[in-house]
Amino acid sequence: MTTVYVLNGPNLNLLGQRQPEIYGSTTLADVERDCKTLGVELGLTVDFFQSNHEGAIIDKIHEARLKAKAIVINPAAFTHTSVAILDALNTFDGPVIEVHISNVHKRESFRHHSYVSLRAEGVIAGFGINGYLLALRQVAKLVG
Ligand code: DQA
Repeated sequence: MTTVYVLNGPNLNLLGQRQPEIYGSTTLADVERDCKTLGVELGLTVDFFQSNHEGAIIDKIHEARLKAKAIVINPAAFTHTSVAILDALNTFDGPVIEVHISNVHKRESFRHHSYVSLRAEGVIAGFGINGYLLALRQVAKLVG
């Protein structure tokens, strides 16, 4: 089985409670369940992870170098600030897909720039939590 890491940045642990008018009412546990269910259908083992700490996400990306064929990442606010996460992703050999639940381009201008996009094969934004599932389908095409 091909392993894909699905990584989530700060505040996404509060998905479902946090600004539901923007991010919806689905919880991150629901997203994890849906990703794992689709993973089975696509022949992918999904390792799902969330942290509010930049260093923990970087450590997980380093782990992915040895264990994963692809990374799906919603870096949340670190998208717009973290050169360190970009540098970590640049040490990873496989495809990287960037996901945002909201359409960041319809929002404040500080959300329009992404460091992670400099590395990502593609970006999915604005399709709610379905973005994670679209990303996994693309991963299956790229490395499945
Ligand atoms: C987000 C968009 C980011 O700008 C924001 O900081 C988040 C979530 C999204 O999924 O839409 O926390 O990545």
